[in-house]
Amino acid sequence: MHAQISPSILSADFARLADECARVEGFADWLHVDVMDNHFPVDAHLMISDADRWAPAYAEAGCASVTFHVEAAADPRMLARNLRAAGARAGMALKPATQIDDFAELLPELDMVLIMTVEPGFGGQSFMADMLPKVRRTRELLRGRPDLDVWIQVDGGVAASTIEQCAEAGANVFVAGSAVYNAADPADACTRLRAQANTGMATWCA
Ligand code: DX5
Ligand code: ZN
Repeated sequence: MHAQISPSILSADFARLADECARVEGFADWLHVDVMDNHFPVDAHLMISDADRWAPAYAEAGCASVTFHVEAAADPRMLARNLRAAGARAGMALKPATQIDDFAELLPELDMVLIMTVEPGFGGQSFMADMLPKVRRTRELLRGRPDLDVWIQVDGGVAASTIEQCAEAGANVFVAGSAVYNAADPADACTRLRAQANTGMATWCA
């Protein structure tokens, strides 16, 4: 398993979005798009209510990965199934107060668990190190299910100073907004973050 870097364009310059995307082309694996009330294809993190109703449209529109907040879904199992049926990877996000054990039985329906390491809302917030046990716990649950291939994504305050701890705890997909887009060279930032993430992941994965 290799680290995957998903720059969050919430921290990019929206007036030059095409350029900002191009700046990390070839250096990033995904583009993380935080959707509040809009509509973009790619690694979509939906911070919207009534996810059951709205999320499938993102899959149908061509997002490769659609992540809904479990707190905003009435029937997360059915929603994950609908996302997969529409051709997307199904991701389930947990806010800081939400525990993975309450939703462990959903893992077979999922392609990714997103563990928020800030309160959702905006970029540039401080990383919550107290979320690392949740990352570890999720990786532990997945070790008990070698039949599954579920990615663990972290989002919020992921930067040079925090990415290695996330990777050691068990994350393998890293959303980084300000750490990529506030860097002088976003492509170089991706490369450095990836190297650090791979170092951290090497502590538990071959
Ligand atoms: C926060 C968003 C994040 C945000 C990350 O609610 O979900 O994706 O853009 O930004 P940084 O990496 O700056 O914390
Ligand atoms: Zn996000």
